[in-house]
Amino acid sequence: MTSITQQLLIWYDKHKRDLPWRSEPSSYHIWLSEVILQQTRVDQGHAYYLRFIDRWPDVHQLAAASEQEVLKMWQGLGYYSRARNLLTAARQLVTSYDGVFPHKLEDIKKLKGVGDYTAAAIASIAFNQPVPVVDGNVFRVLSRLFAIDDPIDTSKGRKVFQEVATSLLAVERPGDYNQALMEFGALQCTPKNPDCPNCPLQNHCLAFAEKRVQDFPVKQGKIKTRKRFLNYFILAGMYQDACFTLLRYRTNGDVWQGLYDFPCIETSQSVTLAQLSQYDFFQKLDQVALQINQVGGSIKHVLTHQQLFASFYLVNCKDGFQDLENNSLSLVALSALENYPMPRLIDRFLLENKDLFENCNA
Ligand code: ADE
Ligand code: SF4
Repeated sequence: MTSITQQLLIWYDKHKRDLPWRSEPSSYHIWLSEVILQQTRVDQGHAYYLRFIDRWPDVHQLAAASEQEVLKMWQGLGYYSRARNLLTAARQLVTSYDGVFPHKLEDIKKLKGVGDYTAAAIASIAFNQPVPVVDGNVFRVLSRLFAIDDPIDTSKGRKVFQEVATSLLAVERPGDYNQALMEFGALQCTPKNPDCPNCPLQNHCLAFAEKRVQDFPVKQGKIKTRKRFLNYFILAGMYQDACFTLLRYRTNGDVWQGLYDFPCIETSQSVTLAQLSQYDFFQKLDQVALQINQVGGSIKHVLTHQQLFASFYLVNCKDGFQDLENNSLSLVALSALENYPMPRLIDRFLLENKDLFENCNA
């Protein structure tokens, strides 16, 4: 074992957080926690993990869940294909493996949504196999320790890090070694303010010696982002003595697949309400609208390769609005709104505008 590895493990044994999946590192627990932790930091992921485990204590129960419920449970984490993949993989496990995780790295990687990172985490932490895990924390810690200039967002760079991580691997404690590197990146060698003065690896750290800690990790470049303008119409009308709205079900080929949002006219530039009147859907809407009022200003929401700008219009409707229901738009009672999984952007908007529907009554 290298001296760095030894120091890391000593540090880990002393400072590791007491996390629920660490006390019982079954493959199901590790898989679930790692999928969640790809989406969020440990503090927030912790609560999601406990809710998932409480609702679906084992893979058989998760496999029997509905996609809608899994997406609802995932709500707020973003990148919903991870949640759909989670369910698909649970069903794969039940169908092909009787609900027992395969041990071979190659088989683990065949599970939907399980890539190199998650497969290595499961194999090492749950099954004690000597494979290194390379995530964002590991890139940062190793790039600093060894002053590695290779960009982390290129395949050549990733290969270099994979090799360094392999060379340091503690073969007797692979799961702890991997978690130690990640934990060290999360608590000690943090992105913005690493605690170098109190770092047990300081005298091994090239970046520290060269006073270049902030230069690492190196990234090659940012990918261009696309701007999209979403003009949402939140309908509110009476139907069968209750207040209803229309929700749109988002299907394939775009962000938020499987989630619900509101009827929307998308434009490539910022537009006014008057400019929207040329659109077909707006003309249909206009025929059942009593009033259309913008609620709040434009809200910016940043995704990996897209910047979304959302505007919201409340449309108080007269009878007949229910006929706008079609294949993609469903009539939903306000009282049932909370059962529908929604993008965080929409969820936040509704939370911040709790009185939105207060004029909707008989
Ligand atoms: N981040 C992602 N997975 C982790 C783990 N197993 N331990 C610490 N931080 C993590
Ligand atoms: Fe990270 Fe600073 Fe420690 Fe180097 S000295 S490993 S940069 S915390």
